[in-house]
Amino acid sequence: MASVLKSQIMVTPLSEVIGAKVSGVDISKPLDKETVKQITRAWLDYIVLVFPNQDLTQDQQLSFAKHFGNTGTRSRRPEQRPEGANYDAGIMLITNVKDDKGRYVGSLPDGEMYFHHDMCYMPKPHKGTMLYAIDLPSTGGHTRFSNMYRAYQKIPGSLKKQLAGRTALQVYDFHMTETVDIDGNLDGIHNKSQPIFVRHPETSRTALYVNRLMTAKIDGIPRDESDAILEELFSIIETTENYYEHVWTEGELAMWDNYCSCHARTDFPAEERRLLRRCTLLGEEMIPAS
Ligand SMILES: [Fe+2]
Repeated sequence: MASVLKSQIMVTPLSEVIGAKVSGVDISKPLDKETVKQITRAWLDYIVLVFPNQDLTQDQQLSFAKHFGNTGTRSRRPEQRPEGANYDAGIMLITNVKDDKGRYVGSLPDGEMYFHHDMCYMPKPHKGTMLYAIDLPSTGGHTRFSNMYRAYQKIPGSLKKQLAGRTALQVYDFHMTETVDIDGNLDGIHNKSQPIFVRHPETSRTALYVNRLMTAKIDGIPRDESDAILEELFSIIETTENYYEHVWTEGELAMWDNYCSCHARTDFPAEERRLLRRCTLLGEEMIPAS
């Protein structure tokens, strides 16, 4: 019987705080169990994994994702999705590209995006996101990944005590790249209160789970106090020591863990083409840290 050569992946840290590059694997092909195990281990350790020099169709991207769980479907209804019928219900194009009628062919076209956790405004946020870079602008459009285990550890002890067991309202309107005004009407806008400190279901480590784009207020305390505390937490998340800024290359796939990281996009020239293809992995209800 012919022996099967197990692939040997190579994992190289991208920074001291978060992220690693994975080489030695062609993720367009089905993976053996040992490789999946190695990637899973690296993902739990580094939170963000980047696979350079890949050539992936939509179906190959989804097949790769399925090695790590069930792929998610979009929170937007089919008629609200600009991608149209050529794409799986779980695929989102993140792009400023327009069709010949001048309509965007995807979502989140232009500009900077504040730090956020994907889908944190849903009852069961998706546990992971996989984003594949197809066309990139000559400058900008980088992704900053912040380590939320580390952010939790950096919170002063008195504030940790004050926030223990509390929840915060997560809100998002996908027509915007800025924070929703919660004093307005939230009808039809996704919103969900989530624990501020969460326990990762696999590592059992505690992570901070708030972000500037989607966290509107801490439940049960006055608004001005909530605003001040959130600003203090955001400054911990957004300090350069807590994040790694990824400069994309075409043909690269990044996968990140939404339970223990959040991410932001830097600005880029609106007149230049940017196209990335996203899918996600389903998750469960967030677990409050005890
Ligand atoms: Fe995102």
